[in-house]
Amino acid sequence: MARALYPGSFDPVTNGHLDIIGRGARIFDEVVASVVRNPQKEPLFSIEERAEMLASACADLPNVRVESFSGLLVEHARRMGAQVIIKGLRAVSDFENEFLQAHTNRFLDSGIDTLFIPTDVAYAFLSSSAIREVVQLGGSVTGLVPPGVEERLRARLLGE
Ligand code: PNS
Repeated sequence: MARALYPGSFDPVTNGHLDIIGRGARIFDEVVASVVRNPQKEPLFSIEERAEMLASACADLPNVRVESFSGLLVEHARRMGAQVIIKGLRAVSDFENEFLQAHTNRFLDSGIDTLFIPTDVAYAFLSSSAIREVVQLGGSVTGLVPPGVEERLRARLLGE
């Protein structure tokens, strides 16, 4: 079975992430969307909240499951039986860092490859941090995040 891992912070999940997950799910038998617990980052939402929002956004994709992990990505990929790591690329500026990560991961486990998927142009400007900032400053992110996520952001950031 060809299984791919799609890792990220998902703080919160955006329609850009969902675009990549949906396209990955058409290529692979199974995509494991994996929320990272990164001790160096202070996320807005807990890992459980991020995984719950991601799982609900992926509910209609039968070959996508949601997991969370901490530690090395390649170890998580091995545990999940994934041969491929999927990464979305929005712009050339993403490439440099992603390229370094792909090489590092391949150094750590040469049996796991990274597949870059260019994000849909409609979401090329989208990032979780920009979404958080727009909501924090009172703007609308309707159409950029899955249903329910904007409400969760407004509740957390604006106390609504
Ligand atoms: O959504 P993000 O924050 O850009 O995702 C970053 C992520 C989760 C892909 C990256 O931080 C990661 O792979 N973390 C796991 C730690 C690891 O394996 N590091 C070594 C490879 S660079």
